[in-house]
Amino acid sequence: MNSKLIAPSMLAADFGNMQRDVEMVNNSDADWFHIDVMDGHFVPNISYGMPVIQAIKKHATKPLDVHLMIEKPERYIEEFAKVGADIITVHYESTVHLHRTLSQIEDAGCKAGVVLNLTTPVSVLEDILPKCYMVLLMSINPGFGGQKFEEMTYNKIKKLRRMIDEQGLNTLIEIDGGVTDKNIKQLVEAGADAFVAGSHVFKSKNPTQTIKELKQLANS
Ligand code: DX5
Ligand code: ZN
Repeated sequence: MNSKLIAPSMLAADFGNMQRDVEMVNNSDADWFHIDVMDGHFVPNISYGMPVIQAIKKHATKPLDVHLMIEKPERYIEEFAKVGADIITVHYESTVHLHRTLSQIEDAGCKAGVVLNLTTPVSVLEDILPKCYMVLLMSINPGFGGQKFEEMTYNKIKKLRRMIDEQGLNTLIEIDGGVTDKNIKQLVEAGADAFVAGSHVFKSKNPTQTIKELKQLANS
């Protein structure tokens, strides 16, 4: 059964050929588009916002998984929903009233998820887990693609998997940062369900084939 999900990160796409790269993902074994929004405050980098997401949505035939790396994301949830986000994840560290922000995402018609920075323990999610469609665990310090995967992630996945199972939930675990063909299998074994891959996919000679390999490795 092909149940593990691959989400190519459009941060690593060629912005001058965005439509071409969107079509590539449409015609690949990928499951979602991963869209990284950075504001230059929450993370030390600025990426893109609503107009670019709207342009991607125009051509995308798969769900948009929008990862907000912005301060106070509650200010913009409705706008991200309007331009086509299907899943919206917000950082635990970026919003004071997380429960309210997740409700806002649901009310806007999207699936809601929480992201944890590398050093934020999974234990902070215990009470909010039933409200999470997905938890995204950062396996790098967010802000840039192409960084090295941090090994501490494996333990966090195992702990989170245990929490989800203990509560009898279906919450998905997504991993973001430094995912490659070398570690995806081990990440599946630790208990992860979905995998963001930016540079490993887009810097490869044949991105379609690379996505296919990741999908096969994750589901083998
Ligand atoms: C970084 C972003 C990631 C990034 C991953 O803050 O959240 O989604 O695009 O890129 P790679 O796969 O190259 O580590
Ligand atoms: Zn991301």
